[in-house]
Amino acid sequence: MNMHSSNAATAEEAIAAQEALPPLTNEEATKVAMSNTLLTPRFYTTDFAEMDAIDVTPVRKDWDVLIAQMKADPNKGHFRKNADWDHVDWDGMEPKLKAEFIDFLISSCTAEFSGCVLYKEMKRRGSNKDITELFQLMARDEARHAGFINDALREAGIAVNLGFLTQAKKYTYFRPKFIYYATYLSEKIGYARYITIYRHLEENPEYRFHPIFKWFREWCNDEFSHGEAFALLLKTDAKLTESRTNKLWIKFFLTAVFSTMWVRDHQRPEFHKALGVDPAWYGQEVFRKTSDISRQVFPMVLDIDHPRWQPALNRIQDANVQIALGRKQGGFGGWVKRMTGSARAATSFVSLLMIPVVKSDVPESPLMAPAY
Ligand SMILES: [Fe+2]
Ligand SMILES: [Fe+2]
Repeated sequence: MNMHSSNAATAEEAIAAQEALPPLTNEEATKVAMSNTLLTPRFYTTDFAEMDAIDVTPVRKDWDVLIAQMKADPNKGHFRKNADWDHVDWDGMEPKLKAEFIDFLISSCTAEFSGCVLYKEMKRRGSNKDITELFQLMARDEARHAGFINDALREAGIAVNLGFLTQAKKYTYFRPKFIYYATYLSEKIGYARYITIYRHLEENPEYRFHPIFKWFREWCNDEFSHGEAFALLLKTDAKLTESRTNKLWIKFFLTAVFSTMWVRDHQRPEFHKALGVDPAWYGQEVFRKTSDISRQVFPMVLDIDHPRWQPALNRIQDANVQIALGRKQGGFGGWVKRMTGSARAATSFVSLLMIPVVKSDVPESPLMAPAY
């Protein structure tokens, strides 16, 4: 039997297993995955030498515990279709829902794979045993996740060309500290997103319109441990979370990650309706869990119950609709729409940044267990 991405020990093996599957020429899916806007998942590159120089001695005890857990590989073989995978009636799916759901799967696959390429590259370039070991384990997980989503897409006759994406997608450079903030948050918010949907569908199974949601619990546990790893990396240098400038950066990243999620999710009304989830409720629920978890390492959380919080997020969302309309319309009128839309989004984002944060005490040892 051929290797399946779920059993792969490394990211390279998982990608090769995906590429060995019968080719599907679906340029549309890869094109969607290739797009680079403020709202689509990006690929990142960084100063790998600086990251390779991290010394994990200050967090050694927690580090060894975490790496041992990841090496034990409890989810090996999990991310593949089995008897629990119910038949999916793609042809019978309501067209708007189908379009939004496919868009969700493509963007999730791209996001998973974005983690994979960054981690894989760090592993390839590094020589620090602690760092390369961690990044190889995380790349392995993300490649399995991306492979599994691609398996789901294949049933609809679509697949994202992962090899092509690695070569052809534009990479955005981020300094290592920005990679830590952004990646820490995206792993933890990923956990919170997956577990919130999983728990909701556990209570309301009639809304589970696709089998992939059954896999979300083990899935989010992987993301949780990736987030733990970045929490430890952040703990190796107190300045990263304690200096005045970096506290402002943390606030900026929290605000950017939360508002991007809000806008992206509001773009998929049919998908959320089918899940029986109100995107505003879902957003606030995910922000709450992510904030609570991030107290392990960030000295503050955003005040998501502030009276200006949700109205400003909604204004960014409206502005985004206006920008999309302008782009569609084209010409001078379209340009004006886009420009005023962008200005409105920027003003509302600044008003989010002006909301005072809630200070928080950071514990000595950050390690947590996934508790939701
Ligand atoms: Fe993942
Ligand atoms: Fe992850």
